[in-house]
Amino acid sequence: SFLEMFVDDLPDMPKLHAYALRDGTPSPIHLTIGMYETKWKFHRDLSPTPVFAFGTSKGKATVPGPTIEALVDIPAYITWENHLPAHHILSWDPTIPIALPASGSGVPTVVHLHGGIHHPQSDGNSNSWFTAGFRDTGPAWTNKTYVYANNQQPGNLWYHDHALGLTRVNLLAGLLGAYILRHPSSEVAFRLPSAPFFDRPLVIFDRSFTIDGSIFLNSTGNNPSIHPQWQPEYFGSAILVNGKAWPYASVEKRRYRFRIINACNARFLHLYFVDGKSRSGRRLQFVHLGSDSAYIGRPVRSKHVLIAPSEIADVVVDFSESRSDSVILANDAPYPFPTGDRTDALSGTVMKFSIRQRTSVDQSRIPSQLMNYPAADPLVATTVRHLAMYEYTTSTDEPTHLYINAMPYEAPVTETPRAGTSEIWEFINLTGDNHPLHIHLGLITALEQRELVDLDNLTACMNKWNDFDKCHVSDHARGKLQKVPRHERGWKNVFKMRPGYLTRIFVRFSLIHVDQKYPFDATEEPGYVYHCHILDHEDNVMMRPLKLVP
Ligand code: C2O
Ligand code: CU
Repeated sequence: SFLEMFVDDLPDMPKLHAYALRDGTPSPIHLTIGMYETKWKFHRDLSPTPVFAFGTSKGKATVPGPTIEALVDIPAYITWENHLPAHHILSWDPTIPIALPASGSGVPTVVHLHGGIHHPQSDGNSNSWFTAGFRDTGPAWTNKTYVYANNQQPGNLWYHDHALGLTRVNLLAGLLGAYILRHPSSEVAFRLPSAPFFDRPLVIFDRSFTIDGSIFLNSTGNNPSIHPQWQPEYFGSAILVNGKAWPYASVEKRRYRFRIINACNARFLHLYFVDGKSRSGRRLQFVHLGSDSAYIGRPVRSKHVLIAPSEIADVVVDFSESRSDSVILANDAPYPFPTGDRTDALSGTVMKFSIRQRTSVDQSRIPSQLMNYPAADPLVATTVRHLAMYEYTTSTDEPTHLYINAMPYEAPVTETPRAGTSEIWEFINLTGDNHPLHIHLGLITALEQRELVDLDNLTACMNKWNDFDKCHVSDHARGKLQKVPRHERGWKNVFKMRPGYLTRIFVRFSLIHVDQKYPFDATEEPGYVYHCHILDHEDNVMMRPLKLVP
């Protein structure tokens, strides 16, 4: 390895509060956050890397961007400003559907707050992009300042670029950050490990670097005559946490809360601890508090956690259960997932924790109850939708593009739920990869994952007709039943679609914490989207519009 591991201290990104405190009472404020071209030091021995970064000024821009701290019911007003140069620092592909500025220069960007429940005009639609100074804007652009109602359950969100056909390169360049939504009046009583020292986001992504420190992105596509640059998945050889390659953190023998965000383009993370022998001889465990943007009902213990791109694991780790003075956070998820290459010493190592004695009493605890939200009730679903995931290839089996329901993104909207209702969406995944499916606005509970039998015939039929009834999908859905892991049985905003399986999810288009309608009109233009969160798939174009109706 050309970069030594565990030499950089795990950073905390700068915090930005999306509220003001006056005499202890929070009130809304207006933030301006820019996107800048700057340099970021990803490792002690690596030259500063040209990046695109979020910050309140160029000098304060970081990768990941600042961690935004928001409060439930205190709306945040954020003006996202594009200060990016005329040309991208990474190569991109004009042959996929893409944001193209009329003036011929500038880097289109638009910000989506992932997990946020807010008005469509603040959702960062892929066609609401803009370039520096709002000189060029996309066909769905409406307003400069976004309003995040924050009238939703407390939890973990993240913000990132969402520009049509550029999302994968804009995130690779650094346009992403964490957003924590807190509700002190319900969370303080949990007495969980608290910020700033014992409650920390871990934003994980992978990148490759050239010897001069630049981000390495193979600029020749897998099918250069069709797509000169696009490739089906980006995998980097270095794993970074909070913007440092294989960092270390010095922790005390006590509980910590980590909000682990998988911000990789395409890499799944199957995380576990090594070298850490607990008193009973077992591995250090994760105690799950939440998945994506919502708490679960009660904590769940596990030795492993699998998070797909964009998924968030909210966990407690108790380092007092370790008998060694250091543990490694490791990853053994094959890439692509689940049937690709196995991780090696580089991609299989995430970071190191050095464990020292406690300096004070650990006052935290793990409560037996967390948040109890209404459970998914399939009987109230108003509609069952059928969705199929396809990958198209050349005769030599090289992927050319991926679609949902055999339709491009531009095809007229077909998913039009009524605001305030819930639906069942049934996906069949006819590809070899697992696709993390993300639905904007909606909250998801997974109901069932059932293996499809006689898959070749089903795939041939679906390729011809794209019709669940004609191809008797329900007759094929009688293979193995795959249990939903206990910590993923709550309300999520992403769910992993297993290859060769039918996955039934319950999607709720209303709030969970107060059981009521949205505090804004969700039916306005430009609507929302749903898509695979492997960014290389999303860009080409495993994404479809989602339009709510009254
Ligand atoms: Cu995290 Cu539509 O994205
Ligand atoms: Cu995908």
